[in-house]
Amino acid sequence: MSTTSLESLAIQSESILVLDFGSQTAQLIARRVRDENVFCQLVRHDLSAERIRELNPRGLILSGGPASVYAKGAPQVDPEIFELGLPVLGICYGMQATCKALGSEVRPGLSREFGHTPLRVLESDPLFSGLPQEFAVWMSHGDRVENLHEQFVALAASDDCPNAAIRHRERPIYGLQFHPEVTHTKFGKELLANFVHKICGCTGTWKISSFIDQECAAIKERVGKSRVICGLSGGVDSSVAAALLFRAIGSQLSCIFVDNGLLRKGEQQQVREQFSDHFKTDLHVVDAESLFLRELAGKTEPQDKRKTIGRVFIDVFRSEAKAIPDAHFLAQGTLYPDVIESGMNQDGPAATIKAHHNVGGLPAELGFELIEPFRMLFKDEVRRIGLELGLPESLIWRHPFPGPGLAVRCLGEITKPRLDTLREADAIFLEELTRAGLYREVQQAFAVLLPLQTVGVMGDARTYEDVIALRSVDTDNFMTADWSRLPYDLLQRVSTRIINTVRGVNRVVYDVSSKPPSTIEWE
Ligand code: XMP
Repeated sequence: MSTTSLESLAIQSESILVLDFGSQTAQLIARRVRDENVFCQLVRHDLSAERIRELNPRGLILSGGPASVYAKGAPQVDPEIFELGLPVLGICYGMQATCKALGSEVRPGLSREFGHTPLRVLESDPLFSGLPQEFAVWMSHGDRVENLHEQFVALAASDDCPNAAIRHRERPIYGLQFHPEVTHTKFGKELLANFVHKICGCTGTWKISSFIDQECAAIKERVGKSRVICGLSGGVDSSVAAALLFRAIGSQLSCIFVDNGLLRKGEQQQVREQFSDHFKTDLHVVDAESLFLRELAGKTEPQDKRKTIGRVFIDVFRSEAKAIPDAHFLAQGTLYPDVIESGMNQDGPAATIKAHHNVGGLPAELGFELIEPFRMLFKDEVRRIGLELGLPESLIWRHPFPGPGLAVRCLGEITKPRLDTLREADAIFLEELTRAGLYREVQQAFAVLLPLQTVGVMGDARTYEDVIALRSVDTDNFMTADWSRLPYDLLQRVSTRIINTVRGVNRVVYDVSSKPPSTIEWE
């Protein structure tokens, strides 16, 4: 569970609680509210009215959810929450649960309504303040509210849904059949902002720095005099986690960085500069290059490489961690998108970590208690925290790098000379991309060393040498991606520099495949 205890939430001057009914987008609602500079956190859907009163939020949002309100075991709300005098916004399932609790009828719709729908505003209300009379919203529901109880009035309708937005006649209780939190709803951000500011009366004083202060206090209290270990990968999430832990507990933090010999050029040096010279953490750099290369020798099959790297990494990390006395905690930079399956624990959503792609992750059997300060946050929120903590822009905006590192970009056999070739070519590509001002425009760019040689000519001699492929992608979420339309003259500069200066390479190609059907990595 996040170190943010709900007690720390209670002391926030302004906060909104999202009661989580299991929607995929529940966390997105919280994030949109935080974007309004109002603290917001998910809590389980059946939190009692009494507990909510103790937490003292300014308003409640009831999320959507996959169930039908009449299904057996469907999550219900404590009807007492409507007596707290707090503004409530029910979204989709949250609206249906509200209506059911307050006496309206919810029925299965004749058809599922899914996708963009034009919404017409019928009644003026602060919720729609500043919004046009008609705009597109995103619907995704089967059930809908039918005989609206006379306590309620319809504020907006769509073609299929006469009660697409409703309000209680006397109390600030609202319901939306559509999802304002997703970007497909045209004025969703403004609508949620109206709820938070105009209806709940929040002024928006919460800042990322408040999150840092609050997390630091919670971590300090939880950790006591123990030592905390943080595994550094060189990437954004673990670096920001380490910087936050350093702010919280200073010399009680030990960082472990495993150099597996599969890193980008200069990576170990950058980690040393940041976490030993700048933040003076107790940094343990484990030079495990020869061990990894020995274990990888002769392996060419991608999953075999991944498994080997994962296994050796855990062994190396475990033995280094064991040698650090009094360490009871392990800090990790797990983000919300890494967390799927929103089961419910005591107050907030419990979760399990994605198995996909988590090579380089650590197993639970390591025996540490986990500190995961960012498990409720999205990547850009973590970036803001990192900048606030003083990490350099170059680190904060670094492209993601896979756990198995260059092993999955060095196609075929992994040897030190081949890795060195790849590292040099990759560094040139990234340097030229940065110089052209395009590094931050694309989401992931790298070089790949192919397992084949091609013929070339240098001077009067024929050569038979390696091929480097360049890959650069534009993507929102890494699930789908398009190849970056990099300028030809940039590609030409990169190609010339690589062929002229990286020994053993006589050809450079550019990957023009999108995902799907290709993937971003080549292995
Ligand atoms: P693909 O190649 O599946 O990659 O399109 C999507 C994103 O995941 C990263 N990736 C990995 N990350 N361990 C990781 O930690 C892995 O084994 C791995 N394979 C791919 C990839 O770099 C891209 O950002």
